[in-house]
Amino acid sequence: MESKHAHRKDEHVSLAQKYYANAHSVDPFEQVKIIHRSLPELQLNDVSLQTNIGAKLRLQRPFYIEAMTGGSEKTGELNRQLAHLAAKHHLAMASGSQSIAIKEPAVKNSFAIIRKENPTGIVFANLGADSSVAQAKQAIAMLNADALQLHVNVAQELIMPEGDRNFKWRENIKTLVAAIDIPIIVKEVGFGMGQETFQELIDLGVKYVDVSGRGGTNFAQIENRRNHDNQFDDLDYWGQSTPESLLEGKQYRQQLAILASGGVTTPIDVIKCGMLGAKAVGVAGYFLHVLVTDGIDELDRVLSNWETEIQRLLLLCGVTNFQDLINVPYVLSAELLNYVNQRKLM
Ligand SMILES: Cc1cc2nc3c(=O)[nH]c(=O)nc-3n(C[C@H](O)[C@H](O)[C@H](O)COP(=O)(O)O)c2cc1C
Repeated sequence: MESKHAHRKDEHVSLAQKYYANAHSVDPFEQVKIIHRSLPELQLNDVSLQTNIGAKLRLQRPFYIEAMTGGSEKTGELNRQLAHLAAKHHLAMASGSQSIAIKEPAVKNSFAIIRKENPTGIVFANLGADSSVAQAKQAIAMLNADALQLHVNVAQELIMPEGDRNFKWRENIKTLVAAIDIPIIVKEVGFGMGQETFQELIDLGVKYVDVSGRGGTNFAQIENRRNHDNQFDDLDYWGQSTPESLLEGKQYRQQLAILASGGVTTPIDVIKCGMLGAKAVGVAGYFLHVLVTDGIDELDRVLSNWETEIQRLLLLCGVTNFQDLINVPYVLSAELLNYVNQRKLM
């Protein structure tokens, strides 16, 4: 029989599917409008899909498979399929939280399969921000990882009946950043980040963040459905959307490599994240939804389509690479502009 932790992971996958349509009913990227260029003066061959997150992290594609699965038989198989497609499409891929594999070595293979299927691609390990240096080294070794994501998920933990109640993480993050010799990406899980968090992370020595904003998979909603004692339904709308989070990060772009995720379901969303300053874009819920609902061949087709469309969209925006998107003009909705003004972000 599988453990409580393994069962929780399976529940996350099935509830993410069950509430997929509801969680995606409001598209935060509609609040950003791209200005069309009629004379881009480029040819498609000039346009590259590569993006540099940092000196040590060069991605072949500007979007990647975000942290989700591993820890149970079912999610190990999902990891195998996702890693197979990551290798085929030259996508970076993040593992789901490996803390379960550190406590229960029997489930290690459900994570190690990611590297086995994709021996030369970029792989991100994933642990909570309270992990020790020894645990971080174990998680990295399990995947021969190129970077380590440290998830910060206070809102999720507080809703979970069995969740953590101690969130004194700062000194530990500082210790990990100093001790680990591959990039550490501090990552939200769908609640976004604001200026105050960016500044605190910079002060701790963090160089990479993934804002993972509201607008897609909603862990407040998922945990509320798992939590039968208390209901925190009013937290279903907690946090900053992905566009809000990226705008919050505007003044920190020199000090931090900012990655985006949260609610990304189309190639145009990827482009909009690039315009708002993301160096690469993670996709979790949508890719999982396609895989679970329509199977691996359909996700394979979607990924090919994203590669083709994103290259053409870059041309349409008049740029030859993803990072030049920050120079492309855009207009914000009245609501998002109001947010920007109140937060003094421009
Ligand atoms: C089923 C599922 C499991 C997840 N597990 C993890 C995890 O273990 N670690 C983590 O950092 N994020 C985890 N996430 C959060 C995603 O990485 C991402 O931050 C969030 O879902 C928002 O992106 P999305 O809207 O594209 O899904 C999980 C997401 C899903 C859908």
